[in-house]
Amino acid sequence: MRVVSGIQPTGNLHLGNYLGAIRNWVKMQDDIAASGEEGSECLFFLADLHAISMPHDPAELKAGTLEMVAALVACGIDPNKSVLFNQAQVPAHTELQWLLTGTARMGWLNRMTQFKDKSGKNREGASIALFSYPVLQAADVLLYQATHVPVGDDQKQHLELARDIAQKFNNDFCEEDTPVFTLPEPYIPPQAARIMSLRDGSAKMSKSDPSEMSRINLSDDADMIMKKVKKAKSDADALPSEKAGLEGRPEALNLVTIYAAITGESVQTVLGEFGGEGFGKFKPALGEVLAETLAPISARFRDLKSDRESLDAILARGAAKARERGADTLDNAYKALGFVRG
Ligand code: TRP
Repeated sequence: MRVVSGIQPTGNLHLGNYLGAIRNWVKMQDDIAASGEEGSECLFFLADLHAISMPHDPAELKAGTLEMVAALVACGIDPNKSVLFNQAQVPAHTELQWLLTGTARMGWLNRMTQFKDKSGKNREGASIALFSYPVLQAADVLLYQATHVPVGDDQKQHLELARDIAQKFNNDFCEEDTPVFTLPEPYIPPQAARIMSLRDGSAKMSKSDPSEMSRINLSDDADMIMKKVKKAKSDADALPSEKAGLEGRPEALNLVTIYAAITGESVQTVLGEFGGEGFGKFKPALGEVLAETLAPISARFRDLKSDRESLDAILARGAAKARERGADTLDNAYKALGFVRG
C-alpha cells in the first residue's frame, strides 16, 4: 500500500480539521506501520502549490504552511514513519503536471464541479491554475504510484480524473505490460466527522468565522476549551436516548457528534450514557474529554510553531525522501513521451 494525500495549508487550525482529516491520516500512518508490510508507506504533503489558484497573500501562505506542519506533527504525524513535505520543495510535482497536461482533456476539466463553484460567475477572471488544479492533483498522486488516496467526498471527482489521466497516458504511451502509472483508489475514511460551528449547528466549523467562540482551535488550552464548550449554543431540552431524537436539533447533534468522535464511541453509545441528561451535565463532560485529548496536542503545537529550525528540518528531510520516491516515475514519464534527456 502506498498512501498519498495532500492538504491545503491554512492557518487557524481547529477541531474540525483534526477530526475531519488529520486524525484519519494519523490512523492510516499507524495502521500501515503496524502492518509491518515491506514497502508500504504514507506520503503526506502540504498542497502549497495549489494555494496560488485563488487570490492569496504570500505572508499568509508562508505562515500557514509552517503552522500546518507544526499541527500535523503535534497531532501525531511522525516524520520518521511517514514522508511529510510540501510540494514546493519537490519540483517533480510541477514537472509531471506539465507532462500530464498533454493527456488531460479540456472537456474533462470543464466538468470539474470545484472549478465551477470556485470560479462562480467570473470564469473569465479565474486563474489558469484554478482550471488546471486537478491536473496538479493528479501529478501529486501518480508521481508516487499511490494505491490509496484518502480524500473527502468533495475531492472524489478530482481523484477520478487522476485515474482517467493515468489510464489514457498508459494507453497512449506505454506497452501494455509496462504502464508508467498506477491507478489510485479513493479511500473515503469511515468516520470523517463533520464538525459544525459551536454557535450555529448548520454551519461548518470554519477558520474564517469571525467569532472565536464558534470553534475550538488546536492552540486552545484546557481552560479555553472548557469555556467555549460551556458557552456553545445548545437548547433547553434533555438529550434523547435514541439518535432519532436529535433530528431538528442541529446544535445538540453537533455536540454529541464531537463527543462521539473524540472518544471513538458511536453517537448511540453516547446517548445511551447521557440520554435524559441536560446540557448542564453534558457540556462539562464534553469539555473534559476534549481538553484531555487536545491538551497534549495543543502544547506540542504551540512549542513547535515557534521552532522554525525544527520545522524547516522536518520539511527538508521529507522533501529529500519524496524526491527520491518520485524520481523513477518522473523519468519514465519523460521517456514514454519521447523526450531526449541525456
Ligand atoms: N485538493 C485537495 C483539497 O483541497 C488537496 C490536495 C492536493 C490533495 N493534492 C492532493 C488531496 C492529492 C489528495 C491527493 O483537499
